[in-house]
Amino acid sequence: MVDSVYRTRSLGVAAVGLPDQYADGKAARVWQLYIGDTKSRTQEYRSWLVSLLKQEGCKTVLDVACGTGVDSIMLLEEGFRVMSVDASDKMLKYALKERWERRKEPAFDNWVIEEANWLALPEDISKPGDGFDAVICLGNSFAHLPDFKGDQSDQKLALQNIASMVKPGGIMIIDHRNYDYILETGNAPQGKNIYYQSDLKQDIDTSVLWVNNKATMVTLDYSLEVEQPEGSQKTPETSKFRLSYYPHRLESFKELLKAAFFGKCKQDVFGDFKHYTPGQGETPCYFIHVVKKTQ
Ligand SMILES: C[S@@+](CC[C@H](N)C(=O)[O-])C[C@H]1O[C@@H](n2cnc3c(N)ncnc32)[C@H](O)[C@@H]1O
Repeated sequence: MVDSVYRTRSLGVAAVGLPDQYADGKAARVWQLYIGDTKSRTQEYRSWLVSLLKQEGCKTVLDVACGTGVDSIMLLEEGFRVMSVDASDKMLKYALKERWERRKEPAFDNWVIEEANWLALPEDISKPGDGFDAVICLGNSFAHLPDFKGDQSDQKLALQNIASMVKPGGIMIIDHRNYDYILETGNAPQGKNIYYQSDLKQDIDTSVLWVNNKATMVTLDYSLEVEQPEGSQKTPETSKFRLSYYPHRLESFKELLKAAFFGKCKQDVFGDFKHYTPGQGETPCYFIHVVKKTQ
């Protein structure tokens, strides 16, 4: 692993012509509230991810959408060596703060954090040898990348760059919300948040933008009721933030992934951490793809 602390080499999201939805710092702040504290991935999430990585013999992990650091921190605590990257400095600020506060723990002192964009990943970071044992892109992150050109060329380039970081025999784990359901019904599937365990009362409004009969954007408006500090006379405040996503459909995303690995891969799909069989069981909120790069 590269032994650096933090280098700003990336062009950043704005420089490659993409909006950083977290640029004003507000969404990053409220995101921290939305996900609960950084130790609070649900137990189900933690055990699914950690046992999958251990079962695959992974030791080094690249988190390409680390955001405020929720997955990376969890994996460092579990003994993995982690490099974390994100295009938003406003999100990285929280990961860097945690790294500093826990620097006395050896795992955190060796935690590599870089600003990097998926569209320029090979230039933004140096790949150790053949690559990482695992590359993760979780929390519905990949859907942040829009398709401005209308031909998915940015999404194909980004996935190819991310896949290039996986060593032969290694895995990529990447997820997205169940946009098939959102596009059919206009709403996200109901059910408890299987990812984050914030105690705050929350609500998500969904809007879909159709252009020429094609769904091109899903906007989620998050509202969170934030309690005032103990002793305060004020009533709870509602914090709001909006994020826009490209609605990846399950089958077409599987094809994009296959192409990113030039067909040299084995693909599995999980719905809310369970092996997914269409039409069986409850409607999943999230699809999680596990792609193994064949030798
Ligand atoms: C919803 S957040 C999720 C962060 C974290 N994985 C979690 O679950 O809390 C999505 C992250 O993807 C990052 N992101 C979006 N587009 C990116 C790009 N082109 N390159 C690198 N990171 C990007 C955003 O800056 C943001 O931090």
